[in-house]
Amino acid sequence: MIRISIAAGLLSAAALAGAQQPAPPPAFAASNLSPMGVRALASNCAACHGTNGRPAPGSTLEGLAGKPKNELAMAMNQFRAGKKPATLMHQISKGYTEAEIDALADYFSRQPR
Ligand code: HEC
Repeated sequence: MIRISIAAGLLSAAALAGAQQPAPPPAFAASNLSPMGVRALASNCAACHGTNGRPAPGSTLEGLAGKPKNELAMAMNQFRAGKKPATLMHQISKGYTEAEIDALADYFSRQPR
């Protein structure tokens, strides 16, 4: 019984200490900017923009394939800064570093339309 109450006391002390700590930063995976890593990043865009940036027939979304790299990077950076109107690209663009955006823009600009 004593052991249980000591354990409970320790647990609540730990919980209190935990409550006062600031939340740890989220653990993002390190960037993988190898060709396969960038391809994996680009696959995150496929659900909406189509495989390799070519939208499915009849899709109302913009294709990304074959667009100039600077145009793609600029759009992503403007979304990220909240300067370009968007429904969901604001959130999506914030999930990528500048280097990742640059690599994604480069990747999609090289894809055939
Ligand atoms: C859940 C769907 C979805 C995903 C996933 C998605 N997008 Fe988008 N994207 C959109 C929509 C919708 C728009 C139009 C702007 C808006 O409403 O947010 C857009 C617009 C864009 C534009 C601007 C196109 C133009 O010329 O106006 C770019 C560039 C872009 N997305 C890049 C990406 C990249 C790169 C990824 C992957 C990292 C990605 N998107 C993932 C839905 C998505």
